[in-house]
Amino acid sequence: MAIISSKKQPPEPNGEPKQQRESAKAPPPENLLQSEAAIHEQGKPEESIRPQRFADYIGQKDLKDVLDIAIKAAKSRNEVMDHLLLYGPPGLGKTTMAMILASEMGVSCKITSAPALERPRDIVGLLVNLKPGDVLFIDEIHRLSRMTEEILYPAMEDYRLDITVGKGSSARIRSIPLSKFTLVGATTRVGALTSPLRDRFGLIQKLRFYEVEELTQIVLRTADFLQTTVNPDGAIEIAKRSRGTPRIANRLLKRVRDYAEVKSCIEINEIVAAEALELYQVDPCGLDWTDRKMLSVIIENFNGGPVGLETIAATTGEDTQTIEEVYEPYLMQIGYLSRTPRGRIATKAAYQHMGFKPPNEQLSLL
Ligand SMILES: Nc1ncnc2c1ncn2[C@@H]1O[C@H](COP(=O)(O)OP(=O)(O)OP(=O)(O)O)[C@@H](O)[C@H]1O
Ligand SMILES: [Mg+2]
Repeated sequence: MAIISSKKQPPEPNGEPKQQRESAKAPPPENLLQSEAAIHEQGKPEESIRPQRFADYIGQKDLKDVLDIAIKAAKSRNEVMDHLLLYGPPGLGKTTMAMILASEMGVSCKITSAPALERPRDIVGLLVNLKPGDVLFIDEIHRLSRMTEEILYPAMEDYRLDITVGKGSSARIRSIPLSKFTLVGATTRVGALTSPLRDRFGLIQKLRFYEVEELTQIVLRTADFLQTTVNPDGAIEIAKRSRGTPRIANRLLKRVRDYAEVKSCIEINEIVAAEALELYQVDPCGLDWTDRKMLSVIIENFNGGPVGLETIAATTGEDTQTIEEVYEPYLMQIGYLSRTPRGRIATKAAYQHMGFKPPNEQLSLL
């Protein structure tokens, strides 16, 4: 696979080597490190409230325990930590954990995302610029192109870059040693990863939805940052409607803060939080318009299911991937939806939540 050639280029008629002209057009290595994804992440307003240390990272005890051991072991052996794959629904803290990991290890974290690594030279540029021990974070790692993935295999396994020099019968493979680094991959769809890539991660960790108590702590912590007064009951009310997800908890808090400010409420209590979130159509379980539409379509139009994913997507106006990755995991987690080979089924709890009586014949399925 021809990636870059180390062969010296003959001088061009105007005296300027071709390679130099090309590199003048190509982004400098610093820019490669600051991939689009990195700029995007750092520009997010939520950046300031992102926990910076392990101690600030609330919940995910199992994950923290595993990583704590891995960090301590690597530090005591003076080695880099094994490659880590984090998976789970959006907004549960994968990027945050990757950044905390780097800061706990005392190294820098280069952030990128698979769609920004379209050309082989993007990943090559990142890899050769890594310093010993650095963390390379690749978001949406299931979307890597095949070429990029193949460059990563020897880089992950032997810290080596294999480059094909020349073409056809004169092609040779040259290996370039790389600094030892830790790759942290994040994905919402672990099943979409190829098995050679998945197998090269020494640690594979799932992030789970957060408990209401954990989300309450997150809401109170963010309220401190935003200098908003939220009482414990108000925080619980927001936490209950956050779909087990810190990003949603922070977002809902900001909306409730808007409401409280406009209505001149001194503090955010249970009533203010509930009123505000009703206004934004977030129900007491955290379900929004799309969730309710999904459930009502299954119940009302299809007698509880099973209903195919495509049909659900068409009736809610969302694409199938968003339904699968964003909506379904939480509905299944709270026991409102079940997936069967024939399609999605609304459970008895979903009937009750939506105010319908479960049909008797349906009960046998649940
Ligand atoms: N454990 C936590 N404690 C406190 N705040 C958290 C925690 N996890 C996440 N957050 C907050 O939630 C926000 C979203 O987290 P993050 O960006 O890490 O999610 P993600 O899993 O990378 O999502 P995506 O899959 O969409 O990239 C962060 O900005 C942070 O403020
Ligand atoms: Mg992320």
